[in-house]
Amino acid sequence: MKKIAIITRDCAGVNAAIRSVVRTACGYNIEVVGVLKGYDGLVDGKFIPLSRGSVSGIINLGGTFLKTSRSKRFLTDVGQKQAVNNIQEQKIEGIIVIGGNGSLKGAHVLATKYKIPVVGIPATIDNDISGVDLSIGADTAVNVALDAVDKIRDTATSLERIFIVEVMGRESGYIALQVALAGGCEEVLFPEKKFTIEAMCTEIQQGNVKGKSSWIIIVAEGKAKAHDVARIITKKTGFETRVAVLGHIQRGGHPTAVDRILASQLGSYAVKVLRDDQTDLCVSMKNDKFITIPLSVAIQPKRFKVAETYKLIKLLTK
Ligand code: F6P
Repeated sequence: MKKIAIITRDCAGVNAAIRSVVRTACGYNIEVVGVLKGYDGLVDGKFIPLSRGSVSGIINLGGTFLKTSRSKRFLTDVGQKQAVNNIQEQKIEGIIVIGGNGSLKGAHVLATKYKIPVVGIPATIDNDISGVDLSIGADTAVNVALDAVDKIRDTATSLERIFIVEVMGRESGYIALQVALAGGCEEVLFPEKKFTIEAMCTEIQQGNVKGKSSWIIIVAEGKAKAHDVARIITKKTGFETRVAVLGHIQRGGHPTAVDRILASQLGSYAVKVLRDDQTDLCVSMKNDKFITIPLSVAIQPKRFKVAETYKLIKLLTK
């Protein structure tokens, strides 16, 4: 294999993964190009050469220095064919895709429909890649949100208030559950579980009778809007509420050590897998060992063990 390309999405740890891919490939004398702006850049043929030196000083940076996009054009046959032409023109023999569900779906299309050797590296704060225990970016996102919740608790306790904190996750309750458990939060609303606001309000009122004076409720953005939840709680219980919507701060920032280490490991392993002529795979780690998962499996909806985590959250905050 003489030349490979890297396509990325953004989250903390992606730059560390790019660095690892580039430096591992350089060790094998494989030329590397970065695709600018994700799949849109592939359609437009926007490549930049990457050398050992061009990835220095990025291991600690959030986002992706290659920039990214949510490409609508790559979803079309016309866009895909244009992208494949560019790949062939550039004599690119393999591609490493670093990203979440959408990015890996694109990788699977390239590998199966166009027979281009592709290996995926899971990087998403939602941690929703099937068969993958931990995706790059998820640990940083949870820690960023947790830091905010810890600070919010100071005011919640001092003023005896109910806080509703909205975290990211349109279809995934991963961040919400992790933060609720780690932050000792009293309630968590997330896409994978039904909930009734009436039951929650009754619980708040009963808790209040027993002397519980402050609450932190985590809401995953895909389940409900924090402002709506707050309004209903105040209306039904009469208690004062406050809202914090954390948003994209969770996807950015300096990657944690966990994310940098995972990114360095998976980036290097992905190059080895691609070089061994393996394709249509996603790399991951299980029990301290490298594994590969077919991309067809990785892009399926992930089944979290949400019930057990939720039960524990409730048990510990009763
Ligand atoms: O998939 C990662 C994620 O950050 C989700 O948690 C969130 O719902 C979504 O992306 C936000 O997407 P965008 O940045 O396009 O608004």
